[in-house]
Amino acid sequence: MEGKIQDRDLQFLVGMFDRVAPSYDLLNHLLSLGVDFRWRHMAVESLGIRDGDLILDIATGTGDLAFAALKKGKCAVVGIDLSSVMLSLADGKRKSKSHDGRYTLIRADAYDMPFRDHVFHHAMISYGVRNIHDWERLFSETRRLLKRGGKIAILEFSIPESTVFRLPYLFYLERLLPFIGGVVSGNREPYAYLRDTVKAFPPPREVVRRVKGQGFNVLEVRPLTFGICHLYVAESRGGKN
Ligand SMILES: C[S@@+](CC[C@H](N)C(=O)[O-])C[C@H]1O[C@@H](n2cnc3c(N)ncnc32)[C@H](O)[C@@H]1O
Repeated sequence: MEGKIQDRDLQFLVGMFDRVAPSYDLLNHLLSLGVDFRWRHMAVESLGIRDGDLILDIATGTGDLAFAALKKGKCAVVGIDLSSVMLSLADGKRKSKSHDGRYTLIRADAYDMPFRDHVFHHAMISYGVRNIHDWERLFSETRRLLKRGGKIAILEFSIPESTVFRLPYLFYLERLLPFIGGVVSGNREPYAYLRDTVKAFPPPREVVRRVKGQGFNVLEVRPLTFGICHLYVAESRGGKN
């Protein structure tokens, strides 16, 4: 996809990801307390990827989820994202690893992906559904692209439900993270955005309800690390009508 993004909110969002991209990996490791590699591994495992599978990584960012999938076996991953800076970082990492050309990067909008119907065995999206607001368009497009029985693994931050973990985590999210992030990157804005969007994101039962409403059967909901993240695995009930 070439050219300017038309939607102003989307333009703002992508501009923010372009700016945050250089410190993005660090930000991710901070917010996840360093366990995001393990979470990505679990997300990839949940799909039951087989050699030869073609996997769609929606909002691929700097590519860590795609690399986790490529490590699993001889699958191929197509990663799409709207941020050209994120994509160029993913490209740099791709060049430094040897994946025999199995990771393809495309600048594209998750609402309108440039692929034929039912070409992907599975899809995955990590920390994207919090930023891609129109779930009807996102999931109908994903359903269109998945083969019959194709699954989607969704990783997203959440607020722990138990008060024992909830209160310290909120303190971390509201006070420590923007402070540390601001000091480390010299830019507080993305950390404030992260804090606000994590707090505003629906709780897991609501996520499940909404994903079901988008034509998917939810197969698994797994809280990770005291519930600061959740893995959702869902199966498409069929292509776009
Ligand atoms: C929080 S990052 C997640 C990156 C990566 N999946 C990861 O696990 O680190 C969210 C990404 O979503 C991308 N994004 C936001 N809206 C998008 C859209 N409509 N289409 C494609 N990518 C989008 C942003 O550019 C950004 O790279």
